[in-house]
Amino acid sequence: MHITIRQLQVFESVARHLSYTRAAEELHLTQPAVSMQVKQLEESIGLPLFEQIGKKIYRTEAGEIMLGHALTIHEHLTIAKREMDELKGVDSGRLSIGVVSTVNYFAARLLAAFSRQHPKVEIRLDVTNRESLLQKLEINEPDLVLMGQPPNGLDVDAADFMDNPLLLVAAPDHRLAKSKRLALESLADETFVVREPGSGTRLAMERFFSDYDFKPQSTVEMTGNEVIKQAIEVGLGLSVLSAHTVELELSAGRLVRLDVVGTPIIRRWYVAHRSGKRLTPTAQSFKQFVLDEGKRQSAG
Ligand code: PGA
Repeated sequence: MHITIRQLQVFESVARHLSYTRAAEELHLTQPAVSMQVKQLEESIGLPLFEQIGKKIYRTEAGEIMLGHALTIHEHLTIAKREMDELKGVDSGRLSIGVVSTVNYFAARLLAAFSRQHPKVEIRLDVTNRESLLQKLEINEPDLVLMGQPPNGLDVDAADFMDNPLLLVAAPDHRLAKSKRLALESLADETFVVREPGSGTRLAMERFFSDYDFKPQSTVEMTGNEVIKQAIEVGLGLSVLSAHTVELELSAGRLVRLDVVGTPIIRRWYVAHRSGKRLTPTAQSFKQFVLDEGKRQSAG
């Protein structure tokens, strides 16, 4: 059965008006063109859709059934058109953002501000570590990701927008809390609480340790920043964490920054997507929002 949308539109008009003439007027077609479309549809279906009794036409049983389907298809096409129109505008549609956990704190504030400007946009925020975010980026799942430097192998467009300084943090009563310009080596007897494998923070910490040929006496591994902050607060050991994740704890005096040579480790955050991806206007506008906000924060 080969049916075109045009045939269905013409059929639906005739079936509604029960008149070829009125359908022709409605569709700005000639009456023979209308009859032709209906005839072709009847041929594809293999059943008559109308019957003529005297001067009037009536829908056959097949005509009744087809009219139901034609109306449903018409409704779906109208919805599809509306949704496509919405996608063309910035003020609606969906926005799916993936962020590494260090960006979480900043991203929540950013999305709140964006959402106030674009209240109809449905936002989805996925927080994960570097490795699983890279997997999502590879399969082109989120509209945009906010992360540390993307690896060279992956074909992405990335623009950096903000510093992500990593600090060495300790409990406030740590014996070296007040020391200045500590050598990393002086922390060799300490326990380090480290992020799970796949974390960009952990990678940066390992690179820093290897630059200084440093190996801590013992390490404890934990997943995510929150649990590590709590462990450090109660004196389990030291950790390397993004300054953005410990802002509150530092200002409340629940954690302190150790003044260690080589810290803060300066990294940058990037807003990225797969190369060649066609960003929706909403995603495009969010990307610009991130870049502007980054500039604003660096200036302030
Ligand atoms: P992550 O964040 O430690 O949650 O992977 C890494 C990053 O800031 O790049």
